[in-house]
Amino acid sequence: MSQYETLIVEQREGGVTLITLNRPQALNALNSQVLSELIAALEAFDADASQGCAVLTGSAKAFAAGADIKEMQAMDFAAMYGTNHFGGYDRVTATRKPVIAAVAGYALGGGCELAMMCDFILAADTAKFGQPEIKLAVSPGMGGSQRLARAVGKAKAMEMCLTGRMMDAAEAERAGLVSRIVPADDLVEEAVKTAATIAGMAPLAVKANKEMVNAAFETGLTQGVAFERRLFHGLFGTADQKEGMAAFVEKRPGNWTGR
Ligand code: CAA
Repeated sequence: MSQYETLIVEQREGGVTLITLNRPQALNALNSQVLSELIAALEAFDADASQGCAVLTGSAKAFAAGADIKEMQAMDFAAMYGTNHFGGYDRVTATRKPVIAAVAGYALGGGCELAMMCDFILAADTAKFGQPEIKLAVSPGMGGSQRLARAVGKAKAMEMCLTGRMMDAAEAERAGLVSRIVPADDLVEEAVKTAATIAGMAPLAVKANKEMVNAAFETGLTQGVAFERRLFHGLFGTADQKEGMAAFVEKRPGNWTGR
């Protein structure tokens, strides 16, 4: 039996952890229990050397329809600011191994923000992204104004935050919010297959690639390129670099040790 009430966590072949948000009665609205279980599941995934990549998904109808409005409704400034409400999501983005969001249906408010915290988003043709918090007289609070603006640029981010308009999968792909669109029925298996490809790469190189792409959003170009180069140089201190290049020359697959 799963140790979680709001998630289903499965280990798939090839080092893939599949995490499914599971509050169907609330369209996977993100309450405190979802967050604490998600942190626990991601920390367990990160610590398990047999696992190389995670997929985070929801249901066919909703990846997640936002933060749980019913949980927040009665909260005041002191409760929000005093507890740094949503601050726990920083632990989601601290995951060192890659996490792919597989989004079908609604990814709204915190749901869109959670998808954007992942390393990339694969979208079903049914996916709908939005930041409708303005309609509740609030705003994104899990990083949406920042990550959406970086992903799709100011014009679309501003329009979406100010009007609550949703973006469909085709627009999201054109705008660069998602890496690819796949038919809804194939979404999870395609995401798992992509995750297995990543999990089959040398583990230290995977972490380094993730870290350097993320640095592009935190630094200027010169500093970012220097950071990339230092990590690249560092990979030449790994046994897997020797193995990877020898395997290429010897025309055989690499056999990784994670060292
Ligand atoms: N929080 C709590 N409950 C939610 C929810 C949410 N974000 N979204 C949906 N639900 C609940 C509904 O209240 C409903 O429960 P009941 O059956 O008990 O009434 C159930 O899920 C099914 O939802 P609907 O009946 O509304 O389903 P629908 O198909 O008619 O509409 C929807 C779907 C358009 C997604 C609609 O549910 C909706 O607009 N949801 C809210 C979207 C939203 O505003 N999200 C932002 C939340 S604030 C936030 O996320 C802050 C932040 O930045 C972190």
